[in-house]
Amino acid sequence: MHSKIILSIFMACLASANNYIPAIKVPGDVLGIKATSKAWMSANFTKIKAYPFVSIKTNDARANKLNYNSGVKDINIKVLYDGKNIAFLLKWKDKTKNISKRLETDSFADGFGIELPTQLEVMPYVNFGDKKNSVVYYDAKIGINQNYKKQNFDENQDENSTIVRQEAYKYQKFSNAKRLNLKKSNTTMDLIYKNGYWLGSLSKQLVDKFSSMNSGAFIASFSLYDGQNLQRGRLRNLTPWESIKVEGIDGGEQLIETMNEHITANAKNGEVLMLKNCSICHNYKNIRKAPKYMAPDLSFIGGYGNLSYLKESILSPNKVQVEDFTKTAHPNFSWVEANEDGKNISIMPSFDWMSQSEIDDLLTFLQTLK
Ligand code: HEC
Repeated sequence: MHSKIILSIFMACLASANNYIPAIKVPGDVLGIKATSKAWMSANFTKIKAYPFVSIKTNDARANKLNYNSGVKDINIKVLYDGKNIAFLLKWKDKTKNISKRLETDSFADGFGIELPTQLEVMPYVNFGDKKNSVVYYDAKIGINQNYKKQNFDENQDENSTIVRQEAYKYQKFSNAKRLNLKKSNTTMDLIYKNGYWLGSLSKQLVDKFSSMNSGAFIASFSLYDGQNLQRGRLRNLTPWESIKVEGIDGGEQLIETMNEHITANAKNGEVLMLKNCSICHNYKNIRKAPKYMAPDLSFIGGYGNLSYLKESILSPNKVQVEDFTKTAHPNFSWVEANEDGKNISIMPSFDWMSQSEIDDLLTFLQTLK
């Protein structure tokens, strides 16, 4: 689904905690600042959670399993803003430092990703966007210097002569990516391992060719890669869309309210409805009745799926079609089928025939899957 941020307001018991990540206004220039810069002392960390992305599997069964079991991870975040540029700092715990030895190999690097919508007023599919709503994805991994093609990477060396491999892509879905030139857009990333923690940073102009955040609030999603768990690409820990409030710019309250929507109806009844209506296709947690790869695994959907997305998934499954797995990975089932007009239609039926209270119960249960 892709929701316009101005959404129907759920009439059921909606709790609104108004949590957001503040972008703290600082004097001076934050463009190009490093992960260890003193400038970060102006802000406090906000803690958010990143969940294993398990909706889509790859053809590496071992990696799928390690990814599934990677656990929910805390990310501590700071955001700074100088009036013209914005900078993000992510800090997360990782007991093992994994650096990539070569570009193509079975050793995978630790790193992080920051995803931003290309248009302010929409919420794209959180996993690399969708056909109608693209995203920009900034990705930083760490590797041995000599093994990387120099021209693609900034020579940001850390103490072990490693290099921060930084990339940016515009995605309309995972398999539809266009490489962006980071240098042209004045975007910099940094990544450093210290005392069992990674510190990763990104700085960019508030407004550039790829994404504009010149507004009272905007949304972003964050990914962690743990090379130890063979995470890469889609296999990663992922946050839902988070809202960021820019200090000193008016507006954005509506967006923040939407992003904080949470529904509290009858989870027990939702669980019963889910078992009855959904478990023939979807596996989730210890409910494993559906044929493998029949439909996305929903074990963590309440973690990285925002409420408005969950709602649209149930009522209008065709608004966003979760990208089908690759044929080599799971050849058995296709998640979408062409109809007589040649349009791709999800095999998931709409559940708009359910009563409002049943939908609320179902959503309440889906939120617990994390
Ligand atoms: C006939 C099989 C089928 C049934 C029954 C079904 N689904 Fe789905 N569902 C799918 C498929 C296939 C997709 C992926 C394609 C798409 O996006 O529509 C999907 C996608 C989803 C997504 C998005 C998942 C993601 O990872 O982003 C959610 C949420 C979802 N379904 C929830 C439900 C719920 C809740 C029910 C029961 C009320 C249900 N589905 C019933 C097949 C099914």
